[in-house]
Amino acid sequence: MLFALFAVLVLAAGPALAQKQPAAAQPSFVSWQAPADGGTGGYSGTESCVSCHRVRVEQVSKTAHASTEVAGVTVGANCEACHGPGKAHVDAEQEAERTSTKNPEAAKLIYNFEGSPQQNSNRCLTCHGTGQGQQAFANSEHKLQGVSCDQCHSAHLVLPSDPRERVELSTAQAQLVGVPKMGEQNRWLNQSLLRQTQPDLCFTCHRSIEAQFALPNHHRVPEGLMTCADCHNPHGSSLAKPLQRKATAYETCVTCHVDKRGPFVYEHAGVRVEGCAICHTPHGSMTRHLLQRGEVRFLCLSCHVDHGPVSFQQSGQCTRCHVAIHGSNASEFLVK
Ligand code: HEC
Ligand code: HEC
Ligand code: HEC
Ligand code: HEC
Ligand code: HEC
Ligand code: HEC
Ligand code: HEC
Ligand code: HEC
Ligand code: HEC
Ligand code: HEC
Repeated sequence: MLFALFAVLVLAAGPALAQKQPAAAQPSFVSWQAPADGGTGGYSGTESCVSCHRVRVEQVSKTAHASTEVAGVTVGANCEACHGPGKAHVDAEQEAERTSTKNPEAAKLIYNFEGSPQQNSNRCLTCHGTGQGQQAFANSEHKLQGVSCDQCHSAHLVLPSDPRERVELSTAQAQLVGVPKMGEQNRWLNQSLLRQTQPDLCFTCHRSIEAQFALPNHHRVPEGLMTCADCHNPHGSSLAKPLQRKATAYETCVTCHVDKRGPFVYEHAGVRVEGCAICHTPHGSMTRHLLQRGEVRFLCLSCHVDHGPVSFQQSGQCTRCHVAIHGSNASEFLVK
């Protein structure tokens, strides 16, 4: 009876998420297949895991997953929601324990996320496939390159969970600025169950981006004052927002740089159409103001090719006169 109840709760969890986001499509349970199916659903219930996996049960019960509500009922730290039916595993482990034998096969009777990246992600996507942030995962570069949910997130805490424990951030800049360091468990619980804090997590794979952020002028991501996710959606984004950007080229930046948003009576079409990154490097650079080119003149002349005479007569920076380079309410020539 209890087993059947858990099976129902597990299967009901997806639609419950969908209810929170009415516009989203119903999740698909096609991938919801466990390797071992011991009879009626093959579920065993989280209580049956406690005796042998107490620490994990305690950990998971602190996460958002434990407070998952399905049809008004708290599912609790439901192990089988991710690992699938566990009855065959429980029976085999209990039998091994009773007879004091070793049965290495018993551990193989439950899904342990040693499948392909796709299979692993599908476990999560049965519920999260309709989540607003994760919807675009299916078409993301991360998914296409075989990065799965569990490479960035950890359902279980990876390090010892003493809340007083101090974790050292790896970058030199972080040490300098001295952002308060949270205990690893608090960090994990407060940072969407990420394996590591950003940007360290991202730098494990993106070494060239790490190098860009090490340049003298950079957005203060390594210092922990901003995150990669302020500008990117690590889960993917639509075609209109290439490079997994959170928003279109322009919107990505003006959420913070509100003074550049306008609307201006006289827009600089270069800003609005091409987006900020045509003139600025978003990560870091050697140049002041993160400009794509140190010599502003050459930046301007890359588009204003027909502007030879001006540059010849008026050497020096174009922005000496065209001060309202991001748009103006007073001058169509952006000079004030
Ligand atoms: C009678 C003891 C016992 C019970 C009950 C039990 N397990 Fe296990 N489980 C083990 C042992 C022993 C292993 C293998 C050693 C290890 O990894 O800790 C294991 C391994 C696992 C693994 C990893 C499998 C692998 O390939 O390494 C998962 C996942 C797992 N158990 C989940 C569960 C879940 C979920 C439940 C409850 C539905 C459960 N276990 C109940 C003893 C038990
Ligand atoms: C949100 C999904 C999710 C839930 C809920 C969950 N797990 Fe896991 N579990 C995973 C993933 C993913 C892995 C693979 C290793 C990792 O990512 O840390 C894993 C790994 C394991 C392992 C094997 C670890 C190893 O070192 O090989 C055991 C044992 C385990 N889980 C037991 C449990 C138990 C017991 C529960 C219930 C308290 C539970 N899990 C709940 C996703 C989940
Ligand atoms: C049974 C459905 C279900 C499954 C399977 C599931 N989740 Fe969740 N997950 C939820 C719900 C419900 C929440 C809480 C609601 C929310 O924050 O959206 C949640 C929350 C989260 C959060 C946010 C945690 C926080 O502290 O805000 C992360 C990250 C997450 N899940 C990752 C995963 C990963 C990775 C997997 C696969 C290993 C997975 N989930 C599998 C239902 C599920
Ligand atoms: C490349 C790393 C990466 C991968 C792969 C990834 N995530 Fe995330 N995820 C993050 C980061 C970083 C955040 C925190 C975002 C923030 O700070 O705004 C996050 C946040 C979340 C959240 C909570 C906030 C939200 O957007 O709803 C959920 C739920 C979640 N991820 C689920 C998943 C699932 C499910 C998958 C697999 C389909 C997945 N993630 C794959 C990095 C990743
Ligand atoms: C497990 C390795 C891994 C991790 C961790 C990882 N990435 Fe990636 N990421 C990749 C790979 C592989 C690609 C595709 C090749 C490339 O563009 O470098 C990629 C591509 C990208 C792209 C470009 C997408 C496109 O459409 O071309 C962005 C943006 C990105 N990652 C951001 C992040 C952020 C932000 C994080 C941390 C939250 C992160 N990545 C963590 C492996 C990873
Ligand atoms: C201030 C916003 C912002 C922040 C913060 C940011 N990015 Fe980007 N990122 C962008 C923009 C904009 C582009 C596209 C640049 C272009 O169009 O030339 C981009 C491009 C990328 C690309 C693809 C192009 C390439 O150079 O390979 C990757 C990968 C990437 N970012 C990863 C990251 C990672 C990892 C972090 C955190 C360490 C991060 N970004 C932080 C705005 C940002
Ligand atoms: C056509 C090229 C161009 C585009 C497009 C552009 N900028 Fe700039 N930006 C500049 C130049 C040139 C400077 C340096 C001005 C100077 O020399 O005083 C600058 C300076 C800045 C500064 C520092 C000085 C200040 O005015 O606050 C910020 C911040 C900035 N830009 C943000 C943005 C944002 C956000 C966008 C997109 C909405 C954007 N820029 C688009 C050329 C551009
Ligand atoms: C999450 C908020 C946030 C977002 C999003 C953001 N910025 Fe910034 N940006 C800042 C802050 C804060 C500074 C202040 C400088 C610092 O970090 O010390 C800054 C500094 C800058 C500067 C240098 C200003 C100077 O005086 O040298 C430029 C240029 C700039 N940003 C452009 C951009 C562009 C282009 C984007 C979009 C790709 C963007 N920013 C997105 C917060 C943001
Ligand atoms: C990405 C291309 C691009 C870059 C780089 C660029 N501009 Fe423009 N700019 C444009 C476009 C497009 C227009 C609109 C032209 C039109 O309407 O004929 C424009 C218009 C102008 C105008 C108003 C003139 C008019 O005819 O309305 C001035 C002044 C100007 N730009 C100055 C600059 C300066 C100074 C720089 C360097 C800091 C610069 N631009 C960089 C694309 C660019
Ligand atoms: C000494 C001040 C000054 C400097 C330096 C300057 N401009 Fe101008 N520019 C102006 C004024 C004033 C106008 C208004 C039209 C006019 O009077 O000819 C103008 C007009 C323009 C126009 C629109 C009219 C046209 O001829 O197409 C563009 C585009 C432009 N400037 C681009 C630039 C670029 C690019 C540079 C740097 C190579 C630059 N300007 C340097 C003062 C300057």
